[in-house]
Amino acid sequence: MKRTNYAGNITQEYIGQIVTLKGWVAKRRNLGGLVFIDLRDREGIVQVVINPDEASERVAQAADKIRNEFVVEVTGKVIERASKNEKMKTGSIEIDAQDITILSTSKTTPFEIKDDVEVSDDTRMKYRYLDLRRPEMLKNIRMRHATTHAIREYLDGAGFIDVETPFLNKSTPEGARDYLVPSRVNKGEFYALPQSPQLMKQLLMTAGLDRYYQIVKCFRDEDLRGDRQPEFTQVDLETSFLDEEEIQTLTEGLIAKVMKEVKGIDVTLPFPRMKYDDAMNFYGSDKPDTRYEMCLQDLSVLTKKSGFKVFEEAPVVKALVVKNAAKKYSRKGIDKLTEQAKQNGAKGLAWTKFENGVLTGGVSKFLTEISSALTEKLALEENDLVLFVADRLTVANAALGALRQTLARELGLIDYRKFNFLWVIDWPMFEWSDEEGRYMSAHHPFTLPTIETREFLSADGSFEASDLQKVRAHAYDIVLNGYELGGGSLRINTRELQETMLEALGFSLESAQEQFGFLLEALDYGFPPHGGLAIGLDRFVMLLAKKDNIREVIAFPKNNKATDPMTQAPSSVAEKQLEELSIKLADENK
Ligand code: AMO
Ligand code: AMP
Repeated sequence: MKRTNYAGNITQEYIGQIVTLKGWVAKRRNLGGLVFIDLRDREGIVQVVINPDEASERVAQAADKIRNEFVVEVTGKVIERASKNEKMKTGSIEIDAQDITILSTSKTTPFEIKDDVEVSDDTRMKYRYLDLRRPEMLKNIRMRHATTHAIREYLDGAGFIDVETPFLNKSTPEGARDYLVPSRVNKGEFYALPQSPQLMKQLLMTAGLDRYYQIVKCFRDEDLRGDRQPEFTQVDLETSFLDEEEIQTLTEGLIAKVMKEVKGIDVTLPFPRMKYDDAMNFYGSDKPDTRYEMCLQDLSVLTKKSGFKVFEEAPVVKALVVKNAAKKYSRKGIDKLTEQAKQNGAKGLAWTKFENGVLTGGVSKFLTEISSALTEKLALEENDLVLFVADRLTVANAALGALRQTLARELGLIDYRKFNFLWVIDWPMFEWSDEEGRYMSAHHPFTLPTIETREFLSADGSFEASDLQKVRAHAYDIVLNGYELGGGSLRINTRELQETMLEALGFSLESAQEQFGFLLEALDYGFPPHGGLAIGLDRFVMLLAKKDNIREVIAFPKNNKATDPMTQAPSSVAEKQLEELSIKLADENK
């Protein structure tokens, strides 16, 4: 028989109709001689009743044999249910089965197919096809589809042209390590999988497409976290002749449409703009979570005369006032916070509490000279806890910024219903990397420096670090609830400036030519002013679905060792395959 309906869609309006349904057995119960089956398909669950005494021999036997996760076909009459279940869409009806056929049997599954099941992440990923049967996972996957659907509609409507770009590429530096693919035809040579289609989309602008987009896989070999996967998806776009504001407005329209269609929420436009320096100084982060206050405060002037050596000698002293938390954080609790501050580079975490109208505990004995000035400056109230970091500005910001997030979570300060979007603008062009021991692009090397600060780039070709720090970029990040949702910039469109930029980043003319010769050459042939951005689709859907790991919204993700427990990728390959590629493994990896 052909299926007439999805199980999960049958409601009171169908009463009296004969329907044929196909799906999985979510539950089977035998009650007072009747067999009840919860039949599940992608739209939901419906209750089926079989009366073995009245059914044919074949149906009675099938009803007897059925177990969880068998695939069955059921034909029956929709009838009103005696005991209605208000919580279920199909809760006021049931199917009085006339015929049942088992289409496929199932072993007992490694975990029960239901939401809130207790099972390890690795088992879920090993049996991902079973995990995806759980209604919650299906909901996430469908939310992802609803999101890409809305995005495509919006961008198609705004005149964007969807263009595919190659996966087998020359490497483009976006700051992560490349995934390499050996070439059989050109032995000893490698393609790089794209970290993003950055240069291709720029070339599409000089090709004259004017507005490009692509929902595209990107590959980055970097340390994994909850919001990072080795392969992930970007909503990538690029435009010609638009300025920063225009690109941001277009993006806001896209986000507003997704929020409306996927969540039914009307967001207020435009989103707030926050300067990078303000984000760092007040929130200690370039992706501030503005769902709660508790901003960092600068005490450097006040503490210069404190008489406390740690504070007097440090370049800056910054503080976090944690309202009404003095009693919640015992010495042990503060030790844990200190540990976190140290992990973020701080030398220590000084603290004091405001109790019974005075500063007490921690470093309060060192602060007697400034205690009233401090109380006033920080507007301290009974039971406040104050945390201080004395250090370089970047360290103080990073350490207190991270504590701000931990404290907000622990103290329940976050309103999880909120979607706080904002733009972080006015970025520095370069960021110092302790790891690399040099300045790196804060975005990427193709970002346009502002006119006002361009002189610091090309002063005399020697690129003093103090000068590089002053260069500002036409770059912008879109931030949602403390996550970097997306980022973009205007790009360089002249060869001279692009060469200067690469030189500032430490490329010799030869290595710039060798890596980016094709771009530099293209810049000689009428390259329009252009700019764009990319949104992390996985992160966007994760936040829409209120999850804290992008794995929850990816059908087949990798675990945090970058492996797939289901297929066992990556794996070793046959000797012959390596020979064809002219690759020899080091002894320890054989
Ligand atoms: P960027 O490197 O900022 O910009 O990446 C854009 C967005 O992609 C998401 N993202 C990731 N998501 C999951 N896992 C990862 N490993 C991962 N890495 C990045 C983030 C991020 O904001 N070509 C530029 C964009 C441009 O300038 O137009 C780019 O790739 O949400
Ligand atoms: P000390 O005088 O070194 O014993 O430090 C007194 C307190 O200040 C201890 O709680 C330390 O954790 C803390 N402390 C030390 N160095 C710093 C710093 N750079 N910033 C903030 N607190 C610090």
